[in-house]
Amino acid sequence: MSSRARAARESITRDIARRGAFQYRGRSPFQMTERKKSGSPPELLLTNCREILTLRGPAPRRGPALGELEIIRDGALLVRDGRIAAAGPRRRIENLRESRRAETLDARRGVVLPGFVDSHTHLVFPAPRANEYEQRISGASYEEIARAGGGILSSVRGLRKMSAAELKARALAHLAQFAAHGTTTVEAKSGYGLDWPSERKILLTMRELGREQPVEIVPTFLGAHAVPPEFRGGGKSADDYAEIICREWLPRVGGNQLAEFCDVFCERGAFTVAQSRKILTAARACGLGLRVHAEQLSRTGAARLAIEQHAASADHLEKISASDMRALARSGVTCTLLPGCCFHLGLAHYAPARALIDAGAIVALATDFNPGTSPTLSMPMILSLACAQMRMTPAEAIAAATVNAAYSLGRYGRAGSLEVGKFADLAVFDVADYREIPYYFGVNHCVLTMKRGRVICSREPRC
Ligand code: NIG
Ligand code: FE
Repeated sequence: MSSRARAARESITRDIARRGAFQYRGRSPFQMTERKKSGSPPELLLTNCREILTLRGPAPRRGPALGELEIIRDGALLVRDGRIAAAGPRRRIENLRESRRAETLDARRGVVLPGFVDSHTHLVFPAPRANEYEQRISGASYEEIARAGGGILSSVRGLRKMSAAELKARALAHLAQFAAHGTTTVEAKSGYGLDWPSERKILLTMRELGREQPVEIVPTFLGAHAVPPEFRGGGKSADDYAEIICREWLPRVGGNQLAEFCDVFCERGAFTVAQSRKILTAARACGLGLRVHAEQLSRTGAARLAIEQHAASADHLEKISASDMRALARSGVTCTLLPGCCFHLGLAHYAPARALIDAGAIVALATDFNPGTSPTLSMPMILSLACAQMRMTPAEAIAAATVNAAYSLGRYGRAGSLEVGKFADLAVFDVADYREIPYYFGVNHCVLTMKRGRVICSREPRC
C-alpha cells in the first residue's frame, strides 16, 4: 500500500473510531447487563421498546398492504444466535425462560424497526463532486455537465487513478455512516471504472468490504453506466463497448461471482434500449439478476424493457407515462424510487409514487448514494422526501425502505422485517412515534443499529 493510501486509511479509521461507529462503547445509552450464565447460548433481550414495527407478513407489499407495519407497543424482542427468537409484548417476552438468562439491552422507550435495506447505491467512488453542485446552482444542467466531460466520466478518471486501498477506506467510512443512519444492507454498484481492471477493482473492493465490516453488501455490476472515453470516436462506438461487456466482462463477473446483479443506465446520452437489452440478456445468461436505471431524465422505454426482461427492479421512473405505470403495476418488477436525486438536482418532478402505489405496483425506496445526483446515505432523509414530495405515508415509506427493498434484492427470507427466524437486523430511533422519523427531516434520530444480533453502532440520543 502506498504511503498516501495508508495515510488516507489511517485518518479515516481514526475518524470512524472517534464517532464510535461499528463498535459498542461503554458510554452508550443502552445498558448491557451481563446476566448470561457461562456456556449458555448467546442470547440478547432488547426490551423497553415503545414501538416495534415488525412489518410481519408476506412480501412484496402492494397497494394498501404497503402501509401495514404490524406494530407491537411496549414490546421486547429476543435474539438467539443472531436471529430473532421471539417478538411480542414486553411482559410476555421478558418472562420467557431464555430471556431471563439473556443479556439485556434497554431500548429506552425508543422505536424499533427493521434495519433499512438500501437497494440502490453507488458506494465505491473516488471523491465528491461539489464543484458540479455549484455549477448546477449557477444554471448548468446535469446533462450539460456530463456532455462537457464532467459527471460520471470525471469520477471515472479519478477512480482509475486511485488505489484499491484508498477506495476501500473511503467506502468504509461511508458504510459507517450508513450504519449510523439505521441501514444494515446496502446494494452497491460498480460503474466508475468502465475498463475491466477498474471495474474488477471496484467489485473486489466490495467483496473485501462485505467480509471485513458488518453492513451486508449486495454487489451489482454496472459496466454500462456511461460510454467510456475510449469508445467515443476513434472508430469505436457504444455498440462496441456493449459488445465487450457482453462477450468478455459478464462471463468473468458471473463466473467468479463478483456480482449478484447487473444494471444498465438506459438513458439518452448513455445506453439505448437495444444496447441495454443486449447487455441484460447476456447478464441473465451469466446467472445475474437484473436491475435497470429507467426513465430518469427522459422517457426511453427502459421501464418496458425491465418488464420484458423480468428485471428485479426498475429504478428512478421520474418520466414514466400512465401506460408504463399500469404495465409496471401488473408486473413483478419492483419500482425503486430515488427522491434524493430530484432533491439534489433541484428538479420539481418526482416519480409518481402515489399513483404507482394506488395502481398496485411494488414500490421500494433507496438513496442512490452517489457523488453526482444524490450524495446522501441517509434513509431517514429519503423517507422525509418520500412523504413530503411524493405523498407517501410514513408507514408506506418505511415498508418501501425495508420489506419491499429486501424483496427486490432477493433477501426477504432473511431481512426486511422483524419475524422469528430472520436475522436480527434492526435500528432503534429515539423518537416517541415512528412518524417522527420522516417528520424530523435532516435529523438523524437513530441511536442504535444491530446487524445479525450484534450492535454495530450506538450513540447518545440528541435530546
Ligand atoms: O443513479 N444515473 C446514473 N447514475 C447515477 C448518477 C451517477 C453520477 O452522476 O455519478 C444515478 O443518478
Ligand atoms: Fe443510480
